[in-house]
Amino acid sequence: MGTILNRTRLFFIVSFLAKALQIPLAVGKSQSNSLCAELIWPKGYPCDEITVETADGFLLGLQHIPFGVAGPSDIPGPAVLLVHGLTAGGDNYVVNDPKEDLALILADAGFDVYIGSNRNTRWSHGSSKYKPEEKAYWDWTLDELAAFDVPAFVEYVYNKRGGSKIFYIGHSQGTLTLMAGLTGGGTAAEQMKDKLRGVVFLAPVAYVTHLSAALVGLLFNTYADQILPLVGIGPADSRILISSVCKLNADACSDLLRGYIGTNSYLNSTRRPTYLKYFPQPTSSYNLNHFGQIKRSEKFGKYDRGPKENLERYGQEEPPLYQLAKFPSESFPQLFFTGGIDQLADPSDTKRLLQELPTSGVREVINLPEYGHGDFVLAQRANIDVYSKIVSFFKSN
Ligand SMILES: *[C@@H]1O[C@H](CO)[C@@H](O)[C@H](O)[C@H]1NC(C)=O
Repeated sequence: MGTILNRTRLFFIVSFLAKALQIPLAVGKSQSNSLCAELIWPKGYPCDEITVETADGFLLGLQHIPFGVAGPSDIPGPAVLLVHGLTAGGDNYVVNDPKEDLALILADAGFDVYIGSNRNTRWSHGSSKYKPEEKAYWDWTLDELAAFDVPAFVEYVYNKRGGSKIFYIGHSQGTLTLMAGLTGGGTAAEQMKDKLRGVVFLAPVAYVTHLSAALVGLLFNTYADQILPLVGIGPADSRILISSVCKLNADACSDLLRGYIGTNSYLNSTRRPTYLKYFPQPTSSYNLNHFGQIKRSEKFGKYDRGPKENLERYGQEEPPLYQLAKFPSESFPQLFFTGGIDQLADPSDTKRLLQELPTSGVREVINLPEYGHGDFVLAQRANIDVYSKIVSFFKSN
């Protein structure tokens, strides 16, 4: 397929769609946005719904599962914060059966569990400053998730626990936002390292040079992610972009889960309708464009808004790079899981990432040759391959 032809066609399709739709795709108001009510209480677990406000005015969903089915213990275990990936939500950690759900396994193992969902996902609560129709509601990328969302979760949980350090588990974008926060996200974000006891990264992502998932690949290879800003739409719900790309290439979208996250090995196909009930969730078109920039530039840097705006925001015409060498490693135990067939966190990209992160303290890397990107949170056997190892890692650190 010729890239020029695609870009021209896309430009027209997206322009047309954008005008016709005028960004009507806000988070569905009729849908429940209580993750406790949808997937946690029905399984017999305690769960509190908490709203956390970010410093830039977004209202995030946070669920607290204080203990497991056996009931509370006299001394609560360490707190664990779980953060999801791109176009996903906190449901990832509680959508299977209880014995296969990472958040519930941790609660049953005595941990004090928190599940965070980023701004404008299904489980978040809008903004105290902006309405979904306003451009500012969607004017953010992973830079803001790193600088505001992750620090807001960490701050809340740390204070709630009276200043005991917490464990962090991220999947995909949830690993990237912590790395970005700790290595160039601003003062509040960098101070998170004093509140964290250690991290587990599932399918870690900072570089996506070799990303090959069909739909996201098509989006980036045709530069479609750049089109929305070009037609004057700029910040918008990414689903506008995706629906126009799906009109262009139905094959890439025939299986949405696979189109976004690539092939997986151990997903229970009977549960597809449940997975697709919660996936994909909104992100901003700027955020997808930012991932496209990271892919094409092969660099892990801040969002490139063009020389003029870069100069205003960053004090330089080129967006600054995140300094992975600044990622904490002393007294900061870390456990990484990588997948051999992961089409978003491709093995060659995770290899590069692991080479660039400092290694002076405790670091374990477990490679699972048959795992794809979604297997780490959804596979039926992840409880054996991944979660039991996380529990032991936390207990020994
Ligand atoms: C797959 O999921 C369905 C629906 O939850 C369940 O009934 C079935 O037992 C699962 N399959 C296996 C092999 O566990």
